[in-house]
Amino acid sequence: MGNKNYDETDQVTSWTEVILVYNAALKEIGTKLEILSDEFQHVHRYNPIEHIKSRIKTSESIVKKLKRHGYESTIENMVQYVNDIAGIRVVCSFTSDIYRIAEMLSNQNDIKILSIKDYIKNPKESGYKSYHMLVSIPIFLSDRVVDTKVEIQIRTVAMDFWASLEHKIRYKFEGNAPQHIKTELVECAKMVSDLDARMLSLNEEIQSLIQGEEKKA
Ligand code: GTP
Ligand code: MG
Repeated sequence: MGNKNYDETDQVTSWTEVILVYNAALKEIGTKLEILSDEFQHVHRYNPIEHIKSRIKTSESIVKKLKRHGYESTIENMVQYVNDIAGIRVVCSFTSDIYRIAEMLSNQNDIKILSIKDYIKNPKESGYKSYHMLVSIPIFLSDRVVDTKVEIQIRTVAMDFWASLEHKIRYKFEGNAPQHIKTELVECAKMVSDLDARMLSLNEEIQSLIQGEEKKA
C-alpha cells in the first residue's frame, strides 16, 4: 500500500517534470522565432510572421495517441513516440515567408532537424497544406541537458483559415464527413493555393516598386 502510493507520487512528479521540459522547449523555439521576426522587420522593414501559437498536448490526447499506435501509456513511450507534445504554429503572409523561416531555423546549430513534411509541395488528400518540421532543442536543466522535440507547423494565413475549418468539420463528423463537403473542401483548398500565389505575385510587384523608388530617392 505504502509502496503503491510512493509509485504514484513518483509518476506524477516525472509527468510534471516532463511537461516542464516541453514547456521550456516551446519557450526556446518561440523566442528564436520572435528574434528572427524582429531582425527581419529591422533589416527588411517587413514582418514575415503574422502570429505564433503554441500549445502543449493534453494528457488525454497523449494517452489517446499512444493507444491508437498500440503503445502502453508510460512516460518513456510518450517521450519516444509522441512527436507533437510540444507544438508551435507559425502563421505567415506569403508562401515564400514559410521557406524563409524554415531555412533560418535550420541554420541555427542548436536546432536538430529530425524530419520535414512539406505538405505545400505535396498536399494531403484532404487538401491540407502546411510545412511541418520536427526538431529537437537542448534544454539545460540544473544537472543535465535534455534534447526535447518540438513540432513546428508553418503555414500562410489562408492555409490556416482552411485548416481550422477543415479541423472543425473533421471533428464534427468524426472523420466521416459527407462526400459533397469533402469535395467542397478540396475545391476551397485549390482556391487557397490560387489566392496565395496571386497575393505573393502582387506583393513581389509592390516590393520591387518600393525598391525602385528608394533607389531614385
Ligand atoms: P498526427 O498523428 O495527426 O499527429 O499525424 P502525423 O504524426 O502523421 O503527422 P502529420 O504531419 O501528418 O500531422 C501533424 C499535425 O498536422 C496534425 O496533428 C494536425 O495538427 C495537422 N494536420 C495534418 N493533416 C491535417 C489535415 O488533413 N487537416 C488539418 N486541419 N490538419 C492536419
Ligand atoms: Mg498531431
